[in-house]
Amino acid sequence: MILSIESSCDDSAIAITEIATNKLLFHKKISQEIEHSIYGGVVPELAARLHAEALPKILEQVKPYFSQLKAVAVTATPGLAVTLIEGVTMAKAIAIALKIPLIEVNHLVGHIYSLFIEKEEQFPMTVLLVSGGHTQLMEVKSLTEIKTVAKSMDDSFGESFDKVAKMMGLGYPGGPLIQDLAKDGDRLKYNFTVPLHQSPLIAFSYSGLKNAVRLAVLEAGEDKSLYKDIAASFEHIASRHITMKLKKYFKTNRPKNFAIVGGASANIYLRSQIEALLAPHKAELYLSELRYCADNAAMIGRVGVEMYKAGELVSVAALDIAPKSNI
Ligand code: KG4
Ligand code: ZN
Repeated sequence: MILSIESSCDDSAIAITEIATNKLLFHKKISQEIEHSIYGGVVPELAARLHAEALPKILEQVKPYFSQLKAVAVTATPGLAVTLIEGVTMAKAIAIALKIPLIEVNHLVGHIYSLFIEKEEQFPMTVLLVSGGHTQLMEVKSLTEIKTVAKSMDDSFGESFDKVAKMMGLGYPGGPLIQDLAKDGDRLKYNFTVPLHQSPLIAFSYSGLKNAVRLAVLEAGEDKSLYKDIAASFEHIASRHITMKLKKYFKTNRPKNFAIVGGASANIYLRSQIEALLAPHKAELYLSELRYCADNAAMIGRVGVEMYKAGELVSVAALDIAPKSNI
């Protein structure tokens, strides 16, 4: 069995995964959404303190598995330095106490493997990662062959939802709040410009759209009845930006398997727009189960199993955090 730990942002999670069967034997996550909500975003020091409280509480529950553990997998990159260190320090302590090796997991690979919880891997696959930290298109051939073909030049898709929600004083995380508000709004009321629509590059950018929304919110002033139309128009253009770039990608690439992963892959409108885009290309769409879209330790454990089988183990001394990913 593999014990896995996730603490790269604002979710403290621990899982136990069986190596031979990929079976998820235990998974528990404690989220900090309520604590960060009043700030409209994640406050790193507060997040670190909350991990320090939550992780030992969850660890207590997995003690019965300790004698059967073969390794500890932990998210070491990318993420907030002060929160990554919480999970990594705990992983090192367990590894020393139980005399077992460590597995250094990249959180982005974790999101890819959220597709394969209790399942076999399915490659090659083109994967769109949309989360709070990333908007990234990757061609994945295997655990170690991951080529990033496009990423955001500034804000990410999920982050832009968080910032728009903050502008409207709605709280955090913004994704589900904006999605909910947008349901009854007019998607065409605000004619926001699609980011990079004239650029031949396959890349993403959300800072310009975010600023256009900021102006619309300012202009609405006290008239909060306009917020639902702003939210709907924003969600429409934020998603359209992605489908326009994917359309470009599909002009020269014909992936048979396409997946959307990450916390923001829960967005219903984005999902429906991508589904419509994929239909004529006969590409199969893969989505993680909703409970594994956002950060969790089950996906880290699933990667851990593959890395364990590949012999990719590290010692306590060799394991370090890296806030920026090399993928
Ligand atoms: O993957 P995740 O849990 O954390 C990171 O790795 O960043 O993603 C969290 C992000 C947040 O920005 C949140 O607002 C966004 O995912 N999100 C959504 C939705 N649900 C969560 N964004 C848009 N629509 C949603 N329904
Ligand atoms: Zn994530």
